[in-house]
Amino acid sequence: MNCQIGNDVSHAAQLLRSGKLVGFATETVYGLGANAFDERAVAGIFEAKERPTFDPLIVHLATIDQLPLVARSIPEAVSPLIEKFWPGPLTLIFPKTPAVPDLVTAGLDSVAVRIPSHPLALELLKLADVPIAAPSANRFGCVSPTTALHVAEQLGDRIDYILDGGPCAVGLESTIVSLLDAQPTVLRLGGLEIEKLEQTIGHVEIKIAGSDPGNSASETSPQLAPGMLLRHYAPRTPLVVKDSLSAPDLADGDALLLSRPGLFSIENHLCEILSMTGDLKECAAGFFSALRRLDALDPKRILAEWFPNEGLGRALNDRLMRAAATTSADSRHV
Ligand code: TXA
Ligand code: MG
Repeated sequence: MNCQIGNDVSHAAQLLRSGKLVGFATETVYGLGANAFDERAVAGIFEAKERPTFDPLIVHLATIDQLPLVARSIPEAVSPLIEKFWPGPLTLIFPKTPAVPDLVTAGLDSVAVRIPSHPLALELLKLADVPIAAPSANRFGCVSPTTALHVAEQLGDRIDYILDGGPCAVGLESTIVSLLDAQPTVLRLGGLEIEKLEQTIGHVEIKIAGSDPGNSASETSPQLAPGMLLRHYAPRTPLVVKDSLSAPDLADGDALLLSRPGLFSIENHLCEILSMTGDLKECAAGFFSALRRLDALDPKRILAEWFPNEGLGRALNDRLMRAAATTSADSRHV
């Protein structure tokens, strides 16, 4: 049986306070929330998503005042980032307080924290009045949800309510930055562009597990951002990504995912065009939805082109790379 979808934010907050699981809109992707201090509720997240417990969760707050509840100390260097980018698509890593269960952090001594900017998410977090642990509300390894319906499709029979805040404006998960060491390090490319981070805090290192095939692609090697598996965000259909597509690349039964109208897109009905102008914000906002729609048509393959490797294009390329990775060829999800 599918759970209710609605916009009753007080009901959703009450459910969270009583240890239930609630899917909710944020500006990045939909999250699957539970009271971060309630270990049983958090265990329910892992169960519903079929997520391995080595993959830590992000804790969501309503206000900066709540930060000391979960962060043991706040490195001075994070202040400019908090001031500039919270609320918003930025997750920061802090040393954790003992109040944060090990299950939330997968046994790490650090915790990932973010304040989302979606007004409904903020309202929910305020009313719940406890930190909310929330991964993306999809089954593990699958395409991230950017509408309430996406959540219902994958998790509707396993959770208690879905708070519908419309389609996500950013469309990609938050950028994760660690300032635990002197050198700011990006652990996941996401909805906040690296260029914007660097304008605020200068040069940042990018250390992303699985992004360098010669290095940490192994899913068993120690990971900088645990859970950043090489194969992730994956449709059921094989995805092939090229520098540039031309007519001879296309075989019968192939679908196309294009950042802008292409030469042969018009005649091909199995085609999603993310933006009429190739605008990367628009491409990001529609990316996961388009991937789902094409996947649902059950084509032989989905063909895509790499995005320009700048701004949100970098995060989009990271998602394409992981969605196309074939390390577990039979990891099809039902
Ligand atoms: O935009 C987002 O961040 C969304 C929305 C719902 O807020 N959430 C999200 O959560 O993408 P999830 O579970 O899909 O990604 C969590 C990732 C983990 O896989 C891991 O890579 C990283 O956050 N992470 C969590 N805790 C960490 C920690 N203590 N140190 C390093 N990385 C951590
Ligand atoms: Mg996720």
